Amino acid sequence: GDTTQQLNSMATAAMRMRRSLALCYHLTAALLLLAFLHAPLAGAQPLPWQLCDSAAGNYTEGSAYQANIRALAGGLPRNASASPALFAKGAAGAAPDAVYALALCRGDTNASSCAACVAAAFRNAQQLCAFNRHATMFDDPCILRYSGQDFLANVTDNSGRFVAFNGNNVSAGAAAAAFDAASGRLVNATADYAAGDPTRRFGTGEEGYDATYPKIYSLAQCTPDMEAADCRSCLRDIIEKFTPQYFVGKPGGRVFGVRCNFRFETYSFFSGRPLLQLPDVLPPAPAPAPAAAEEGEFLKQKTNKK
Ligand SMILES: *[C@@H]1O[C@H](CO)[C@@H](O)[C@H](O)[C@H]1NC(C)=O
Ligand SMILES: *[C@@H]1O[C@H](CO)[C@@H](O)[C@H](O)[C@H]1NC(C)=O
Ligand SMILES: *[C@@H]1O[C@H](CO)[C@@H](O)[C@H](O)[C@H]1NC(C)=O
Ligand SMILES: *[C@@H]1O[C@H](CO)[C@@H](O)[C@H](O)[C@H]1NC(C)=O
Ligand SMILES: *[C@@H]1O[C@H](CO)[C@@H](O)[C@H](O)[C@H]1NC(C)=O
Ligand SMILES: *[C@@H]1O[C@H](CO)[C@@H](O)[C@H](O)[C@H]1NC(C)=O
Repeated sequence: GDTTQQLNSMATAAMRMRRSLALCYHLTAALLLLAFLHAPLAGAQPLPWQLCDSAAGNYTEGSAYQANIRALAGGLPRNASASPALFAKGAAGAAPDAVYALALCRGDTNASSCAACVAAAFRNAQQLCAFNRHATMFDDPCILRYSGQDFLANVTDNSGRFVAFNGNNVSAGAAAAAFDAASGRLVNATADYAAGDPTRRFGTGEEGYDATYPKIYSLAQCTPDMEAADCRSCLRDIIEKFTPQYFVGKPGGRVFGVRCNFRFETYSFFSGRPLLQLPDVLPPAPAPAPAAAEEGEFLKQKTNKK
């Protein structure tokens, strides 16, 4: 429907999409479960993004496994939206038809959007990953996975990820390196903030940058059943693994995982005030004027509160 139309209307985007999917296949075979999507697609690129694992087995129409997925689909949207951290885990049925599921909504969304997203993710998963026992949906504002394997117990298993980045380049040379340093600082600080949030393991951040990119925005989140250290290490892992590989000189990027995820952009993409505000990155001054130094000090103090 929509998806096909959007892609058809954008020949280039569709071509890139096919390339992405071919690449995705290749890596899926390599058990990395990655996909690459360029941001020119971001507008046209329809969420949800699904990871279907047909190698994990299939179920049939009318099976007990299907009934168990439907039972979870009936309860998990409400359970996630009713929880303070917008998170729910659940299991239905008994071996060999037991189904395990996890749903996490973005920390800045509300209960009704959360419930609607998780319910839609169940519908989409059953459609887009039809009859696959194991499926993962990355949507806005929620993430859903169901599986016949009990992946819930292992909070450090963040396998099956989606990486996307803005296809534009910040600029050539040193300016890009300066941007990367600034966005990296913000992403890391937001990850610290998220790990330090005992209830939601969620953080958003903002940092003033320059005339071209007045602000950089970021978001980081883990499932709230993770310890602070596990959350930080999950985020460190995906930041370290994917930033040098895909986000160098890029004005935006995101990594989706079921246990942790992060995103940064040069436009505002989250609701509410940023939970963390970093001091503006001041342009390098050849001869530091007293006024500039004062301003720097002031901003530093202002943000020490976190
Ligand atoms: C599940 O179904 C898909 C598509 O019909 C098929 O390619 C795949 O081999 C099946 N998986 C298993 C484990 O049988
Ligand atoms: C939702 O939460 C209720 C109350 O904790 C629980 O009894 C029920 O099994 C949960 N539903 C699912 C699908 O996990
Ligand atoms: C929840 O968020 C959605 C999307 O931002 C918004 O349209 C809706 O009005 C909000 N609902 C409530 C009850 O705040
Ligand atoms: C949890 O998952 C991680 C990553 O896949 C793995 O390295 C670790 O051994 C698992 N832990 C347990 C207890 O299975
Ligand atoms: C960004 O830079 C890469 C690598 O140099 C290049 O392949 C790509 O075409 C550039 N993208 C744009 C939108 O200019
Ligand atoms: C952010 O953290 C990563 C991973 O820990 C590290 O490699 C990187 O140098 C840090 N970036 C900045 C700008 O501090």
